[in-house]
Amino acid sequence: MNKYTVFGNPIAQSKSPSIHQMFAEQAGLTIEYDRTLATKENFIASLTHFFLAGDAKGCNVTSPFKEQVAKWVDDLSAAAKIAGSVNTVIKKEDGTFLGDTTDGPGLVQDLGRLGVQIKNARILLLGAGGAARGVLQSILALEPEFLMIANRTEEKAQQLASLLPSENFIGIGFKQLDEVKPAFDLIINSTSASLTGELPAIPDSIMSSSACVYDMSYGDKPTVFLQHAKTLGVVDTFDGLGMLVGQAAESFYLWTGYRPNVVPVIDSLRSSL
Ligand code: ATR
Repeated sequence: MNKYTVFGNPIAQSKSPSIHQMFAEQAGLTIEYDRTLATKENFIASLTHFFLAGDAKGCNVTSPFKEQVAKWVDDLSAAAKIAGSVNTVIKKEDGTFLGDTTDGPGLVQDLGRLGVQIKNARILLLGAGGAARGVLQSILALEPEFLMIANRTEEKAQQLASLLPSENFIGIGFKQLDEVKPAFDLIINSTSASLTGELPAIPDSIMSSSACVYDMSYGDKPTVFLQHAKTLGVVDTFDGLGMLVGQAAESFYLWTGYRPNVVPVIDSLRSSL
C-alpha cells in the first residue's frame, strides 16, 4: 500500500489524512496517510526515515518545516523556488525527491470554484509572510491588473513586492492604506491574525469598497475578518477551507495523476467543523 504522511508541529489538528482518504476513495485507491509530529531538531531525520520505506511515495509538510524541507529535496519546482518553501514532496521513479508548493494552485482553484475572477482584477493581499509568498506566483500567473501587498511591518511588504516583475505590484504598510483610494475587486487575508481572533488594522473604507473578501483561515464559524467584512456590507465573503482542500487536491494529483473532485470533500469537512 502506498504511504504518505504530513509533517508539522503541531500536527494533531491536521485534516490532511481525512482529506486524502476521501480523495483515495474517489480514485479507487487504497493508501495509508498518517500525521507525523516532528521537532526542528529531528525533522530531517524523521523525513529520511519515512522515505526509507519503499512504499513511501510522498509527504506533505506544514508549519514550521516548509522552508527546511525546501533545502532537503533534490529539486524544486519553479513555484517552490519563488516561494522559498515546499508543502509537497514527491518521490520520483529514480529515487530523487522533488519539492513543490500547492498552496498557490489551491487558492486560485478555490477562487475559480467560487467564481471570483483574478484576471484584470485589482487585488489587495494582506500579509507578507510565508502564506503570502506561497501564493504570489499563482496569483500573478492569472494576470491581475494590479496587486498591492499591505503588511503590518512595511519593510516586509516592500521586500516581497520587490521580487515582483512590474510596477503594477507594490508593497506598503497598513498605515499607508489610509492614503490609498479604495478600489479593490478582491481582498485576500493571508495574515495569521485570524488564528488569534485579531483583525488586521486596515481602514474600514478599504474593506467596505471591495466586492469580495477571502480569508485564508477558516473555522467552525466565520473568522473575525469575514464577520467584520459582512458588517461593512461586503457581499461575497469566503474562508480558506476550499483552499485547504484545493492544495491537498493538487498534492494528490502530483502523487497519483488523479484529479479529485473537491466539492464533496469541502462539503464533508464543512459539516464536521
Ligand atoms: P505565515 O506562514 O502564516 O504567513 P508568518 O510568515 O509568520 O506566517 O507571517 C505572518 C503574517 O501575518 C505576517 O505578515 C504578519 O505581519 P508582520 O510581518 O507585521 O509580523 C501577519 N500578522 C500576524 N498577526 C497579525 C495581526 N494581529 N495583525 C496584522 N498582521 C498580522
